[in-house]
Amino acid sequence: MAFPQERPRRLRRSEALRSLVRETLLAPDDLTWPLFVVPGARVRNPVKSMPGVFQLSVDELTAEAQRAWECGVRSVILFGIPETKDAIGSSAWDDDGVVPRAVRALKEKLPGLVVMTDVCMCEYTDHGHCGVLKPPRAGGPGQDLGVDNDATLPLLAREAVAHAKAGADVVAPSDMMDGRVAAIREALDIAGYPDVPILSYAAKFAGAFYGPFRDAAESAPREGPGVPKDRKGYQMDPANAREARREVALDVAEGADMVMVKPAVPYLDIVRMVKEEFDLPVAAYHVSGEYAMIKAAAERGWIDEPRVVLETLLCCRRAGADLVLTYYAKEAASLLTGVRR
Ligand code: PBG
Repeated sequence: MAFPQERPRRLRRSEALRSLVRETLLAPDDLTWPLFVVPGARVRNPVKSMPGVFQLSVDELTAEAQRAWECGVRSVILFGIPETKDAIGSSAWDDDGVVPRAVRALKEKLPGLVVMTDVCMCEYTDHGHCGVLKPPRAGGPGQDLGVDNDATLPLLAREAVAHAKAGADVVAPSDMMDGRVAAIREALDIAGYPDVPILSYAAKFAGAFYGPFRDAAESAPREGPGVPKDRKGYQMDPANAREARREVALDVAEGADMVMVKPAVPYLDIVRMVKEEFDLPVAAYHVSGEYAMIKAAAERGWIDEPRVVLETLLCCRRAGADLVLTYYAKEAASLLTGVRR
């Protein structure tokens, strides 16, 4: 071998040395824990396709959040499963709905916790789509039926305002309608919430990784007149990276404070690109299907779950994510801090 010799192994000789030169850190306060809220009291419904995840009533949810807080988790994002659903998702902006009630309870019990809310219609509409549908008669030959973008915007804005009014720290629109960040920003400002930031699900892909979530949130899209059984008409094509740049640029121009890429691991190239090209915080959502795959392998004893989880989340950070939304938040925080709850 030639001299001087390159020996990268010199810096790998002990854990202390490795940690001195480590480029990326994963900390519990980088993690956001998604939680599913249902009506009632003392409800803990296990989600079949997501072992360890439950639909929780407000009382159980605040207790869980408290335990996560003790493990070091500093933020949660709420998804609501309402009592009733209808064609326009009107329970989405009910001030007394499950999400506003959960927000109030969390802010009372854990004032330091960052409480985010998912803003979307799919949990509240009886057809499961992320917006209202065009009336069947609007379509003629060559006419687009399906989800009505512009009619959905004011409804999303009302939902976001209801969440802000309840005390949400961040609102996170996940519907993928065009122009929703601007509509929500304007509505929040007019309603007196100029300080509530928007985390936009900016590059959200219509892939196959959301199946378990739709069990948990009871929000699978149904086929109807002019609408298929999928979200490909509004979420992005998994093949497109340049389009992701455009989606993020639009949301930034409309006033997003943070932008999200979703799913996480199969889309880390997008996370990296967004990190390099935009100067606001980037979130990666390690989604339900990604969680379920790790769980399934772990249940069979095929992988070392704690190590795989921490490596996965670290790699999201290394790719450029400032924060990671993950169903493993409490477990990962617990592994990192050594606090078990
Ligand atoms: C609502 C929403 C979805 C997810 C987050 N917000 C589902 C969907 O788009 O069908 C998915 C999260 C996950 O899979 O963990 N639009």
